[in-house]
Amino acid sequence: MSAFIVLGAQWGDEGKGKMTDYLAEGADVVVRFQGGNNAGHTVEVGEKQYKLHLIPSGILYKDKLNIIGNGVVLDPKAFFEEIEYLKENGVKVTEDNLMVSDRTQVIMPYHKILDGIKEKSRGKKDIGTTGKGIGPCYTDKMERSGIRVCDLLHKDVFYENLKKNLEVKNAIITKVYGGDPLDFETVYKEYCGYAEKLKPFVREISVEIDKNIKNGKKILFEGAQGTLLDIDYGTYPYVTSSSTIAGGVCIGAGVGPTMINGAVGIAKAYTTRVGKGPFPTELNDETGNWIREQGHEYGVTTGRARRCGWLDLVILKTSSRVSGLTSFAVTKIDTLGGLKKVKACVGYKFNGKVIDYIPASLEDLAECEPVYEEFDGWDESIKDARDYKSLPENAKKFIKRIEEFTGTKVSIVSVGPGRDQTIKVSEL
Ligand code: GDP
Ligand code: IMO
Ligand code: MG
Repeated sequence: MSAFIVLGAQWGDEGKGKMTDYLAEGADVVVRFQGGNNAGHTVEVGEKQYKLHLIPSGILYKDKLNIIGNGVVLDPKAFFEEIEYLKENGVKVTEDNLMVSDRTQVIMPYHKILDGIKEKSRGKKDIGTTGKGIGPCYTDKMERSGIRVCDLLHKDVFYENLKKNLEVKNAIITKVYGGDPLDFETVYKEYCGYAEKLKPFVREISVEIDKNIKNGKKILFEGAQGTLLDIDYGTYPYVTSSSTIAGGVCIGAGVGPTMINGAVGIAKAYTTRVGKGPFPTELNDETGNWIREQGHEYGVTTGRARRCGWLDLVILKTSSRVSGLTSFAVTKIDTLGGLKKVKACVGYKFNGKVIDYIPASLEDLAECEPVYEEFDGWDESIKDARDYKSLPENAKKFIKRIEEFTGTKVSIVSVGPGRDQTIKVSEL
């Protein structure tokens, strides 16, 4: 491994935090390349559980460099709160082990307000966003009115940008949505304070990553969200506003595709989704509730109950294709332990045919009927397995079918949240 991507293969919460932490042991640098504090990555180290939103999961090691790339949207308030949380828990965070790109877009208070009121205005068609201002911040980036970290550091540039932005945003907030305007001086002062504190962390991170690659260091790119929340290949518009697939790394970290050696897709042994939007294999029944409770499927960022359903191999095949995955890491196989029968979707019945891709149109996707294969289950003791051969035969059959259907090998099987509850099957 010299430059490797870890990304979500489903709708997020697949266990990217756990797997990044596991793989980071053999890495020197961990980079976030998209998303913001909408992410919630859980890492368990011994008895301790850490919840990370914005800071790369490599921070829990003493000797790793952690980088927030230009593709991320950074809420400075959340950033400093997370640093405080980590420090309180005995984790070292300094400008020597954490860097922020000078090109990173900054989440402003109006982005958070707009996220909330736009959701409200969508009525029944709300997306169910995390309310962190992610969509409105990326909107400004693309519209070319965003404020980047480097702009924040130039007081006069920031002053002018904020004046222009607030004029427009306040008009939208008050005239379109009937909300309360923001006060310029208050926002300006608050963010000038953040600028001072941010300064030591700021770097040209594309140069830093390049330098590290050329010096033979090992880089891990930590994705947030998942393939089906991708702005292009997800279930649009029920998606997040960034490129969660492998291509997002090049854009969000300033690295060329030829420098990247592979990508591992993190896939839960079943499927979950938080927020609204289509979910063909969703289980609105006892089994769905059972999986939620067994798997503690409640959001790290918002606390919302996650919707649960069977594994969807059409989704994994899509993820493998659009990101060129070199392997999968299958997580939470222990959660299914105890079920008599386990199912996996191997196609969608659509217009009289069986398809193995996800239609772009949500109307077409709504017509899709999952085709299932049924597997005999395995028992709960799977969480104690520490090598592939000691996994129950039925679990191995399930894993084999994932490989066959997707044409992508399974390199890691995770049987619990702990670092040690991880089985390496093959090289990534
Ligand atoms: P992320 O957003 O992809 O990092 O995933 P989350 O942290 O939001 O959700 C995954 C949850 O599953 C966390 O509570 C993890 O500690 C937990 N987890 C990860 N891998 C496993 C596993 O193999 N088995 C079990 N039981 N829990 C796991
Ligand atoms: P991690 O990295 C699961 C979902 C939200 C909503 C949609 C858009 O922990 O896997 P946004 O606030 O991004 O505009 O919300 O995306 N979503 C996630 N779901 N895991 C996440 O992150 C998510 N980040 C956003 O629930 O449906
Ligand atoms: Mg999560």
